[in-house]
Amino acid sequence: MFEREIDVARQAAESAGALLVELYGNDIHVRKKGRVDLVTDADVQAEDLIVKTIAAHFPSDGVLAEESGRYRGDSGRTWLIDPLDGTTNYAHGFPLFAVSIALEIEGRLELGVVSCPVMGEVFEARRGWGARLNGHPVHVAGTARLSEALLGTGFPYNLRQDPELHIDRFARMVLSAQGVRRPGSAAIDLCYVAAGRFDGFWEVGLKPWDTAAGVLMVEEAGGLVTTLQGEPFTPYAKSVLAANPVLHQEMVASFQRES
Ligand code: IPD
Ligand code: CA
Ligand code: CA
Repeated sequence: MFEREIDVARQAAESAGALLVELYGNDIHVRKKGRVDLVTDADVQAEDLIVKTIAAHFPSDGVLAEESGRYRGDSGRTWLIDPLDGTTNYAHGFPLFAVSIALEIEGRLELGVVSCPVMGEVFEARRGWGARLNGHPVHVAGTARLSEALLGTGFPYNLRQDPELHIDRFARMVLSAQGVRRPGSAAIDLCYVAAGRFDGFWEVGLKPWDTAAGVLMVEEAGGLVTTLQGEPFTPYAKSVLAANPVLHQEMVASFQRES
């Protein structure tokens, strides 16, 4: 199912990734969307390329893209697009960033592609088909205890509005887990859970384009994805918690104990 869609998504993600690499390190224009939220010319050009590629193949589909917003099609299908996930990394010359593209049909995620061009890695998932990294199946890790887990996380751009909550949560996880990393791209964090590189990932305040492709990747790799409170996840939820099913229970219990 969705052979043509995944081919188009892969082609769009790889072309956008190549464009990002071409512009990387050049003197590109960087603007602030908020106090710490950046956007570069590379975000805008990559998104333009992706949206045009998808519109050329599927003109009646809708699009929800980070920089240009929502276009409502009439097919009941919506493409969720983050042309550059990890803009802060990109703008600082820190080479970890990705292109994330997912397709949602009648509220259900059906496919996702995450391309990490500098690493030469493309993750792909389709519902019921599994998750793959450069064509090879990937699975979540089997780590069953938080004390043995390597976790990923991120901080929302509005961190300064309620710093204690996020920092307390981070401190608790750093003290309970084997290690916690903050790579700077939620799409990559989720793919790393799918590939067993991370045992778990949590973050609050992400947007649908950040999570959609990566969440399907985790589910198709055998992982569980919910909100921090253990409620069902949708790309429009306010938080995300992804892990293998055993570790997931321990992480939910830990977040539920928050006062
Ligand atoms: C950001 C990254 C980051 C996460 C932020 C996101 P952007 O996306 O995914 O890891 O912590 O919350 O907004 O702005 O680089 O596309
Ligand atoms: Ca993003
Ligand atoms: Ca982005």
